[in-house]
Amino acid sequence: MSIDPASIVEVAPRASLRIPAHLGVIMDGNGRWAKARGKRRTEGHIEGVKALRNLVELCINYGVANLTVFSFSSENWTRPKDEIIFIFNLLRRFVASDLQRLIRNNVQVRIIGSREGLEPSLIRLIDDVEAKTAANTGLVLIVAFNYGGKAEIVDATRRIASEVAAGRLAPEQISEATIEAALYTTGIPHPDVIVRTSGEQRISNFLLWQAAYSEFVFVDDYWPDFNETAFLRVLEIFSQRVRRFGGIEAASP
Ligand code: IPE
Ligand code: IPE
Ligand code: MG
Repeated sequence: MSIDPASIVEVAPRASLRIPAHLGVIMDGNGRWAKARGKRRTEGHIEGVKALRNLVELCINYGVANLTVFSFSSENWTRPKDEIIFIFNLLRRFVASDLQRLIRNNVQVRIIGSREGLEPSLIRLIDDVEAKTAANTGLVLIVAFNYGGKAEIVDATRRIASEVAAGRLAPEQISEATIEAALYTTGIPHPDVIVRTSGEQRISNFLLWQAAYSEFVFVDDYWPDFNETAFLRVLEIFSQRVRRFGGIEAASP
């Protein structure tokens, strides 16, 4: 019997893959993807949604339990109005076209971020998709929309401060757990790995508190080009990282 050596190379690294319980993704580079092809930025955003749909399937197939994607930041309001409207409409269309598939695939959707400044009809849509998928037990898809890590901490601080002002909480009772409980992501484990596409190497206000011990993987591809090969490369890189959380490796002398 002969073994094709190519098949060994193919299987061996996958067998040792460590699957993150929570993958965070800064989906960056839609505009540059489009520009490089002589297209409008909006076409890059359309392709970006396709890459997101594909990533959701990959996470389901590979057993990633939680996926957080950064789709619109609190700082993205500084963009031209047309582009903002386009991105907001894309979210509406994504929900409309994908809701049934998400339900079928047992995906629970959570949309995190500020609801301030969002149209009431968009807020209703967000509430609706969350309610319709709340009982699902598969992948938790967290969409960071109108999200900023600093704004999240401000919101959490306000909530905690009002508890203190009402006399229900003493300042010395405030712990990391108190802050955790006041964040949008309460109950979700912190991201094990955060991927950013497009070659930029910065956090841009994504999950600031939650990223305290995340592994960062920076990918040169623009977001619309992020496919299964890129996903597996990220998992391989993550699998090789040694996480210490401030401690030392178990095998160290
Ligand atoms: C990411 O792509 C999507 C959003 C921030 C909404 P960009 O739109 O930032 O694309 P680039 O970075 O300008 O290429
Ligand atoms: C981060 O990308 C936000 C999202 C991917 C939604 P940006 O394109 O807004 O980040 P900067 O401006 O390059 O830091
Ligand atoms: Mg960008």
